[in-house]
Amino acid sequence: MMLSSLRSIRLRIPAILSALMSLVSAEPGSTAQTAFRPGQPWPDSAGVHLNAHGFCVLDFEGRHYWYGAHKIEGKTEDEKNEAGVRCYVSDDLMNWKDQGLVLDVFEKGAHPDLAEAFILDRPKVIYQEATKTFLLYFKLYPPKSKGGKSGKDYAWVGVATSSKPTGPFEYKGYFLGNHDKFGTGDFAIVPDTDGSIHHIAVRKPEKALIQGRLSDDGLKPVGDYKVLEGVTIGTEAPAFFRRNGKVYLLASETSGWKPNAARMFVADQLAGPYKELPNPCRGVNPVNQLGPDKTFGGQSTFVYQVAGRKDAWIAMFDINKPENPINAGYIWLPIEFEADQPVIRWRDTWDLSLFPKP
Ligand code: DGJ
Repeated sequence: MMLSSLRSIRLRIPAILSALMSLVSAEPGSTAQTAFRPGQPWPDSAGVHLNAHGFCVLDFEGRHYWYGAHKIEGKTEDEKNEAGVRCYVSDDLMNWKDQGLVLDVFEKGAHPDLAEAFILDRPKVIYQEATKTFLLYFKLYPPKSKGGKSGKDYAWVGVATSSKPTGPFEYKGYFLGNHDKFGTGDFAIVPDTDGSIHHIAVRKPEKALIQGRLSDDGLKPVGDYKVLEGVTIGTEAPAFFRRNGKVYLLASETSGWKPNAARMFVADQLAGPYKELPNPCRGVNPVNQLGPDKTFGGQSTFVYQVAGRKDAWIAMFDINKPENPINAGYIWLPIEFEADQPVIRWRDTWDLSLFPKP
């Protein structure tokens, strides 16, 4: 064998090993994922399309946990269509094993706030090292019987905790963002550099983005909420990340379940003031022919920093399907930086080799 062929095989050994490992982690009859395929069906290790929407990804002890709202087959977004929060676990971010419902609204004895909720949406989980507790937050629209004409006029923030990443999570009650009867809508939970936890949410009904500090146990807001100056009114689906001393906010406009243009802001500190940057999206999703003015058909939900890679960020979006939410999809794309300005370029397929190892 030629020396160059031997060298090329040697160079490819880590890739071959990782492909073999992912084959081993897949269950019989299913197909291991070897790349991210934005907008395409994403089978779990049993071959079933992932059902965890409005999601986030949390790393814990070297493994990745995906939490999202479980949509019920046959229900539209105008009905009670969420069974709770589903969790998946992965070792490579591509192949996910179902861990079941970590919060089940139909469980026997479920709290009426959950059992009767109209919508349980956009779950976000953080781990609090000091108390060794996983904190789960979600947008909780109360049933029509508890207020609102449409059931979406005001929203609570539900909180549940667990000592394990895979739950079960115990419901701890809800709070009203902004201490206001209307509450808040889409939100992010952001730990600040001093360890404090912040609830950043869309104030109802006028849709300013506001920030409130949570109590040390993370269960309720303490003190007043403040408007994040510089963030355009009507900014939804907020997802924050920190890079080189700056705080970035990826978000959407407001248009219900329909896609719109992504928004990007930057600040020197979490409290702002924020400066708007250009739309980060580039290119077109060939499946739906949607480009930057519609965020490839998606809406932001989370930005994830890839552990073990240098300057590696993944922008994560839902593709909403209000008529058939169980079929809703996901878009994961790498964030590149052009002179510190985030750019999210459409890619049909990609993998983590795009990010250099430190
Ligand atoms: C926009 C939000 O970002 C979504 O999570 C969802 O609540 C829809 N509005 C509902 O119209």
